[in-house]
Amino acid sequence: MNNVSLTKRQSVEKNYYNSIVHDKWDHKSLLVEHIEPPFNYYSGDLFGCAKNYIGDFKNKIILEIGCGNGEISVWFAKNGAEVYGIDISDESIAIAERRSRENGITEQTHFLVSPGEYTHFLDSFFDIIFINVSLHHLEVEQALNEFKRVLKPNGIFVAVEPCVFSKTIQTIRTSKLITSLYPIRQETPTERILFSDDLELIKRIFTDIEYRPYRIFSPFIFKVKPLFFFLANVFYARERDVEKRRRKMNRGFQKIDEVILTLFPFMKFLSRYIVCKARNSKE
Ligand SMILES: C[S@@+](CC[C@H](N)C(=O)[O-])C[C@H]1O[C@@H](n2cnc3c(N)ncnc32)[C@H](O)[C@@H]1O
Repeated sequence: MNNVSLTKRQSVEKNYYNSIVHDKWDHKSLLVEHIEPPFNYYSGDLFGCAKNYIGDFKNKIILEIGCGNGEISVWFAKNGAEVYGIDISDESIAIAERRSRENGITEQTHFLVSPGEYTHFLDSFFDIIFINVSLHHLEVEQALNEFKRVLKPNGIFVAVEPCVFSKTIQTIRTSKLITSLYPIRQETPTERILFSDDLELIKRIFTDIEYRPYRIFSPFIFKVKPLFFFLANVFYARERDVEKRRRKMNRGFQKIDEVILTLFPFMKFLSRYIVCKARNSKE
């Protein structure tokens, strides 16, 4: 652990994520598929885009911030990268280390307990920084400046995050009426969804920002279980495995959202996630 005292926010995050780590991991559940990325069945739309943004990462040095219990870091390592994974939760990092051992990949992974806002890495050390649904748990501006410091000139930063473009839509979504029908999934009291202002911040700190908005209706339909299960049974009746049927239906809805957002980009004001890529400046 970095020899630093944690902020109140970081302590809340650490205590929460330590509290949800369980010790039921066995060899099989720690194994990471070489081909299929972790969480592919429910976030393949987002991770697929992130993979495209990252491009070829073989022999590159990747830093994963807020790596949790290390699934994605180990997947990057299994596919040829040297990976550093950091997280504020020591219990999650302990699982990540076990996962790395069980996957026989310890030489290519380095897991450390550290806040993402300040690290002990040297300047300009990493080719790629990746962050999966964790930036919105951090002090965003401080974290982005730290990422810039440790990223090589021309290195890339890729993030998958919940993000909204319209504060009005977010006010409606978080209103009492709507949340009584569709409760918002908020894990920690200190997390906050990103807004387009945060994208502006990324633009100011990095260059060549690109992003794609994702998911409009699919998260809602997924939550209305009776409707979702009914549609899954109708459209994927041929699939015998019920779980696979539901996964396919979920991906089907995500695809529909992707098509809508591609054909009608202005609809991004309704989207819930972004995948974003930015580059460190050259000098
Ligand atoms: C929603 S989880 C995502 C975990 C992982 N990236 C995944 O996709 O499963 C957020 C993670 O961010 C970590 N975290 C929260 N605040 C942090 C901070 N200030 N610095 C580093 N990690 C932090 C948490 O411990 C947790 O593992």
